[in-house]
Amino acid sequence: MKSLERMADVRIWMVVSSLVMVFASQAPQSQEAPTGFDGKSNGLVDDQTHQEDQVKFDEVEGVAEGLGPLYNAQSCAECHQNPMSGGASQITELRVGHLGPDGRFHNPDIPIARGTEIISGRTLVNDRAICPNAAFPDTEIQERVPESESIRATRMSLNLLGDGFVEAVADQSLIELARQQCKKNHGKICGLVIHVPIVESPGRAGVGRFGWKDAHASLLSFSGDAYLNEMGITNRLFPDEVTNLCNTVSEPNDAPGPDGLSDVDRFARFIRTSKAPARDAKLAETPQAKRGSVLFDKIGCEVCHVRSLTTAPAGTKINGGAFTVPPALGGKVFHPFGDFLLHDVGTGDGIVIPVIEHYGRAARQMPRECSPENFQRTRNRLRTAPLWGVRLRPRLMHDGASPTFLDAILRHRGEASKATHGFEHLSRNDQEAVIEFLRSL
Ligand code: HEC
Ligand code: HEC
Repeated sequence: MKSLERMADVRIWMVVSSLVMVFASQAPQSQEAPTGFDGKSNGLVDDQTHQEDQVKFDEVEGVAEGLGPLYNAQSCAECHQNPMSGGASQITELRVGHLGPDGRFHNPDIPIARGTEIISGRTLVNDRAICPNAAFPDTEIQERVPESESIRATRMSLNLLGDGFVEAVADQSLIELARQQCKKNHGKICGLVIHVPIVESPGRAGVGRFGWKDAHASLLSFSGDAYLNEMGITNRLFPDEVTNLCNTVSEPNDAPGPDGLSDVDRFARFIRTSKAPARDAKLAETPQAKRGSVLFDKIGCEVCHVRSLTTAPAGTKINGGAFTVPPALGGKVFHPFGDFLLHDVGTGDGIVIPVIEHYGRAARQMPRECSPENFQRTRNRLRTAPLWGVRLRPRLMHDGASPTFLDAILRHRGEASKATHGFEHLSRNDQEAVIEFLRSL
């Protein structure tokens, strides 16, 4: 009797365990995101479409296409090109502002054209303009920073390769990451999450993750922003020129092609279809880099420089419903060595996210989740620099002022103090191992 009961138990156990196996095999399996610098698509579109989109990203624009009146460069690739289109570069941008009597950050007022017009609503200072020229010999609109704008910062161009995976991470995953980080580190390391408007979904917000201050959640929003603010090319998301002085081309400049896609759509698709930066596989296998990898975790670098994130499942709607995560980007594990959260590591540049510059008309109807207080809190915080591909960048940190890994590490203070002290207390050999590990990323 006893043994019969036991056999029944065994049978029930077998049924239960096989059911568990069925469910486990049906649960979506996370796959590794493709990596590489081969210029090919990550699978979201065919390679030819990816390369055609790259042609747009590389295209040098002139005055006839709407360049300027104020601008920084003539193509996206001019600033995003190392080691290939979509990578980072040494080009920095100037941002300024000042503290008001209220103790808060204020955007600059920059007079142009002999003081006849004031540029406001942005912290970016454009370095170039299309005039004076033959048509406007007396109109000089170059921006020149007034003495009173005493907060001044430069910021490096960022890597965009693999950003499609970053965009496809669910808002909730980043919110949860921030919560766990703060809890596990007893309130000493607490990445800030900010909600930002999705320009293509008016009235809707998402968790910011792009730019040094997490000013955007959507790659399409960022593309529209960059087309206007870096190149002066108005588009359906940002239809208003920064100034109309010397302007001869009607708005918006970026008209859709025969396929219905505008340049901003193609820029976003080019970034979304790029592969993630690949590691130096050979170096990563050396005993020293492997030891450095263990030490990196041990002294707490990985608290912010998070090794792995997983994207939302295919079919998930993001960007306020404007984008559905496709199978090529859904359920993918990738290794950014970053948390995409904002931290005060003692290097803050004092600049708050400028809302009109980044969200254009969408700034007029800020979604409820976008708290002005949180925007103020971006003043001395920066996004954890994702370390994927960092071996390919000779200038480090937001300002590019750290030419060596050692310099960059030793500048970390504030929330990163414990990790920096941990590094300082390592033996010379162990410090070198951590740096060797960084050289493999
Ligand atoms: C003059 C240089 C310059 C040009 C031209 C330029 N960018 Fe950028 N880009 C930058 C800088 C600098 C940043 C970091 C901005 C910040 O947060 O302060 C950046 C950041 C980005 C990011 C965020 C990446 C991330 O992972 O956070 C995206 C996306 C982007 N640019 C897309 C574009 C597109 C698309 C174009 C062309 C329309 C373009 N950029 C043109 C300099 C440039
Ligand atoms: C509290 C979060 C935090 C911790 C802990 C942390 N970092 Fe960082 N790290 C950041 C932030 C934020 C930046 C960007 C700072 C800036 O640009 O001014 C950064 C930037 C870097 C950079 C420059 C990357 C680039 O592309 O410019 C390197 C290298 C780096 N960290 C390595 C490390 C190492 C090694 C450790 C451990 C000793 C560490 N970090 C610990 C947040 C952190």
